[in-house]
Amino acid sequence: ETRALIDPFQRPITYLRLSVTDRCDFRCSYCMAEEMVFLPKKELLSLEELDRMSTAFIGLGVRKLRITGGEPLVRKDIMTFFRGMTRHLESGALDELTLTTNGSQLARFADDLYAAGVRRVNVSLDTLDPAKFSQITRRGDLAKVLRGIEAAQAAGLRVKINAVALKGFNEEELFTLTDWCAERDMDLTWIEVMPMGDLGEEEDRIDQYWPLTDLRERLATRFTLTPLAERSGGPARYVRLEESGQKIGFITPLTHNFCESCNRVRMTCTGELYMCLGQEDRADLRAPLRDHPDDDAPLVAAIRDAISHKPKGHDFDYSRQRADGQMPRHMSHTGG
Ligand code: GTP
Ligand code: 5AD
Ligand code: SF4
Repeated sequence: ETRALIDPFQRPITYLRLSVTDRCDFRCSYCMAEEMVFLPKKELLSLEELDRMSTAFIGLGVRKLRITGGEPLVRKDIMTFFRGMTRHLESGALDELTLTTNGSQLARFADDLYAAGVRRVNVSLDTLDPAKFSQITRRGDLAKVLRGIEAAQAAGLRVKINAVALKGFNEEELFTLTDWCAERDMDLTWIEVMPMGDLGEEEDRIDQYWPLTDLRERLATRFTLTPLAERSGGPARYVRLEESGQKIGFITPLTHNFCESCNRVRMTCTGELYMCLGQEDRADLRAPLRDHPDDDAPLVAAIRDAISHKPKGHDFDYSRQRADGQMPRHMSHTGG
């Protein structure tokens, strides 16, 4: 059966974000709680199950596969899975195999990733200041991440930096980060912080929210911004800075909703398919997968049924969330 996946709003689903672990060696404050309880191994999809699941989606028209976590590179033997996916690149069924990583393990895996057919990685990096980096990641080591980025480039991977825009935190680094990326020929994408993950008593996500409309205006005081029509298959909209030639992306769930062009769904490491990052709608795909080891039909039917329930979009909104409370689910649960 090869009918493509089309959701109720006529959007073709061609992009799967697959989380392979709930674990991470960092604890970024907007993504995880300081103390996390991680899942027992039997709850996770095995490497074979991850392969079967991805292959089923690819059979249904998914052309871009992004591996996420937690931190995908802390999953044991994950390179076995990547190497398995190479066949889908070689057959032409898959356009892109990629990952989003915190960079901590990149020095170790960059060559293997390239050999498996990965050509591009997105690395999360919000600040170049070691003290601030320790503060936001709670246990990350900036020097290690920088070594990882260097290794990735040396291995031939294109690196895109993802920075979450955080008020009063990396505002003053807008130009530093921009220049640093330009010097290394890396694109940079800014992300509006989304109201997810209970912060407890500490503070509210809204205190960290720095709208990209403001960031963009500040960028325009020093650079000429030319909007680009091209998209990466993800939610970012891009501009080119005429002075440096570099590409800057903006992911603006709050100030400019992009759900209309949504092409993606997300799978957790336990096989739950979330139809939208900002909604609770989800479907268990582990049961149809595990209960029928030799027959994909029940899985395919469950995938089709899930897509037929994909919601129109998120309703992140800081003013409403202030009254109703934000979504308790952490970003790390679906890998962003
Ligand atoms: P490219 O292939 O480089 O375009 O990557 P991408 O933007 O698809 O993936 P990445 O993992 O780099 O995601 C960057 C940010 O975009 C993360 O913070 C995601 O949570 C966010 N993001 C991706 N898709 C969606 C979406 O459908 N809705 C919302 N609200 N945010 C999203
Ligand atoms: N809001 C916006 N982006 C987030 N990320 C993690 N948590 C949040 C949040 N609450 C980003 C990470 C990473 C990507 C997968 O998601 O920085 O780049
Ligand atoms: Fe780990 Fe990435 Fe979440 Fe930070 S944003 S805690 S690096 S999964």
